[in-house]
Amino acid sequence: MERYTAAIVGCGSIGNAHMEGYNLVDEVEVIAVADPVPMARKTYVDAYGIPQEFETVEEMMEKARPDIVSVCTWHLLHPAPTIAAAAGGARAVICEKPMAIGMAAADSMVDACEAHGTQLVISHQRRFTPGWEKAKALVEEGAIGEPLFVTNKVADGLTNWGTHSIDGSRFVLGDPRAQWVMGAVERCTDRYERDTMIEDACMGLVHFDGGLQLFIQSDLMREGAGAGCFEIRGSEGLLSVSETRLQIMNPSSGGWREVDLALTEGSKAIGGNTNAAQVRELITCLEGHKAKHRNAGTTARDTVEIMMALYESARRNRVIHLPLQEKGYPLQLMVEEGGLPVEVEGRYDIRGFLKRDGIDEAKYKKLWDEGMGHHQIMRQLHEETNPS
Ligand SMILES: NC(=O)c1ccc[n+]([C@@H]2O[C@H](COP(=O)([O-])OP(=O)(O)OC[C@H]3O[C@@H](n4cnc5c(N)ncnc54)[C@H](O)[C@@H]3O)[C@@H](O)[C@H]2O)c1
Repeated sequence: MERYTAAIVGCGSIGNAHMEGYNLVDEVEVIAVADPVPMARKTYVDAYGIPQEFETVEEMMEKARPDIVSVCTWHLLHPAPTIAAAAGGARAVICEKPMAIGMAAADSMVDACEAHGTQLVISHQRRFTPGWEKAKALVEEGAIGEPLFVTNKVADGLTNWGTHSIDGSRFVLGDPRAQWVMGAVERCTDRYERDTMIEDACMGLVHFDGGLQLFIQSDLMREGAGAGCFEIRGSEGLLSVSETRLQIMNPSSGGWREVDLALTEGSKAIGGNTNAAQVRELITCLEGHKAKHRNAGTTARDTVEIMMALYESARRNRVIHLPLQEKGYPLQLMVEEGGLPVEVEGRYDIRGFLKRDGIDEAKYKKLWDEGMGHHQIMRQLHEETNPS
């Protein structure tokens, strides 16, 4: 059995899920972490018994030389550590979603990994959930005939939940290629998510090869919104898909029928942990038994392109045919060009409570040691620091 070393960049919330995943895969040992915040590193070192900690990815790559690097930083900080890990000799990078904000950023990650022979995986880990895997199998079997139309409803920003939902729909439908996108965007408030400028609300229509279409609405209504739920209408039936529940209606189902979700291929070997399944498939790819990871960087790049094209369509007031020519972040360009004037002044960040600057780190450690989760601690400390 070949063994692999791994490292985590960004010792925050989602890094814990990566740790849990690695710890379930026998071949992998996590040997290092990198994070500029000393207490963030210490929490991981203590909790998981990790032997080495570093302030920067570059130093970590030079001294610890891990085979696999998990990039668990905020969206705008996905390209730099990914590129540094590839340049530093990583055999694979598992980078969090959304892959990147803008096509130049996404392409820089794909290019750097290709140049250094590094496998790039983007953590759309929900592709390993039983609901999505079984839905994909049913679509392939023709259980709803020819897929015609998919509806997605998400919240908390297109690039946040939307990336999972678009990616999941694409997975279930066999990763069809998008031809054009038309979108509408509202941004009357100065809204951000993990330091990334986002819209107040948006919606878009995506047209794929063969005529299949996908509709997505984000933040228009919270009821029924979810990062992993969508409905597919086919020529001979309907599928209602979530990560853990799947329902079908077709001529032989006798109305809506629950589909049995006995653990499917991706998750059964390691008890349904999606991060572990993602690592296991990566090892299969590294060892040459599978040509392409289901979450390959090039696949996630196409989801970024759809989201950026939605914004670009609103910016240009026209249908955007792919490939997308604009390499920057169309939403930000639209704001800078005066196309989306802010009517309610005051920048705010819907995940701002996760920012570690200025929090009482000793109190963080105490609450963590008492068993409180990262999000809960950060919300509490943020409220204590900003009582208004
Ligand atoms: N796949 C999923 O289901 C899922 C779920 C939650 C979050 N995420 C994604 O994970 C990413 C991180 O989100 P989070 O909620 O874990 O954030 P977080 O704030 O909890 O953690 C981020 C960590 O990165 C560290 N950091 C900042 N700059 C750094 C740098 N230059 N080098 C190394 N570390 C640095 C911070 O100190 C912090 O500890 C986001 O892109 C988010 O979208 C994905």
